Amino acid sequence: MLLRGKKVLLGICGGIAAYKIPMLVRALIKEGAEVRCVMTSEAGQFVSPLVLSTLSGYPALSAYTAQESGSAVWNSHVELGLWADVFLIAPLTANTLAKLAHGQSDNLLTATYLSARCPVLVAPAMDLDMMAHPSVQSNLKQLTSYGIEVVEPEFGFLASGLEGKGRMPEPEHLLERIQTRMGRGPLSGFKLLINAGPTYEPIDAVRFIGNHSSGKMGVEIALEAVRRGAEVYLVHGPLRFTLPDAAFAQVVPVVTAAEMERACSEWFDRCDGAILSAAVADFRPADPKANKIKKDQAPEAIQLEPTPDILAGLGTKKRTNQTLIGFALETDNGLDNAWKKLTRKNLDWIVLNEPGPETGFGTETNRAWLVHKSGEKRDSGLVSKAELAGQILDVLTHAAP
Ligand code: C5P
Repeated sequence: MLLRGKKVLLGICGGIAAYKIPMLVRALIKEGAEVRCVMTSEAGQFVSPLVLSTLSGYPALSAYTAQESGSAVWNSHVELGLWADVFLIAPLTANTLAKLAHGQSDNLLTATYLSARCPVLVAPAMDLDMMAHPSVQSNLKQLTSYGIEVVEPEFGFLASGLEGKGRMPEPEHLLERIQTRMGRGPLSGFKLLINAGPTYEPIDAVRFIGNHSSGKMGVEIALEAVRRGAEVYLVHGPLRFTLPDAAFAQVVPVVTAAEMERACSEWFDRCDGAILSAAVADFRPADPKANKIKKDQAPEAIQLEPTPDILAGLGTKKRTNQTLIGFALETDNGLDNAWKKLTRKNLDWIVLNEPGPETGFGTETNRAWLVHKSGEKRDSGLVSKAELAGQILDVLTHAAP
């Protein structure tokens, strides 16, 4: 009952995804929230107001006035706007988005939005080309600049038959976003250490040993963990993209394995769990040169030494109330090797992935086995890295040590 006593106002626009909103109403009520619905007149074509009012116990409103016992009553947008502790508009259509971005108020939903003093979240859902249109993107930026939280649409199959970015997130994800916004996310109060990206081990002042890790997997986990309310301590090596803005508790950029180890062991003690996704270099030059080695002074060989195993180090000092999740990237005997790593490094879960055209380093998608220390195994399926991040955090939430 994470939302006990909270008043949630849902704004529903005329998009096909509206048919999923009754599931959200039910889920909110199960969590103890009080729910009221306000809808555009077109929304009623996609979801029945009767279903919404039956589930919520309040009339689902779309007009400024209604007839009650033969006389007109005023549905006050001001009263509705002030009633809510949080207002989620989902699905948000391009049309209503444009109205919200420009302060237009021609129906009960848009007038209520202007009257609301509570946090507002919107979940835009539309066809991929509409979503990508510069005017839609500029209106979304406009809303963000007003402090509105935009719940990013997901990739996938769209009602038009096309496939792309534009799907409204599933009701359970919308529920999580509301919970997090209310300070009651599934990971609220959980302190989580995450590492991401490669490490670079210097050969001399300008050269290094590194690998092709982009850092995307770990950063997706960090972003999703923030969305679910966790206090995230992110230690990352050199990333191949700009780190998106998010409410991280701490971000520590590092370059070498030694720096990453220092930061991780410092933060781990105060965390409830850690997910180590970084592709830490296994070896480093034993004697890096301070200056650039001249072309005509090329060494015949570079002496290497092992880097510290950060994950194994955290495994030795893990407390019983801490959850430790590691990664394994394997080309052969994946499950066997992952299991050996899980036991040797004292992990609770290991995420096994195999490099391939759609998985592993630098790709947008990934496929992994999530293996628990009990022997339980879950196949993630081929999914986006953001979605895999969600599955990893699900196991952290629902199956702590
Ligand atoms: O043993 P292997 O390198 O395959 O294990 C991979 C896991 O160990 C990953 O979670 C990675 O972040 C972690 N690791 C580490 N320090 C190293 C090497 C790997 O923390 N030096």
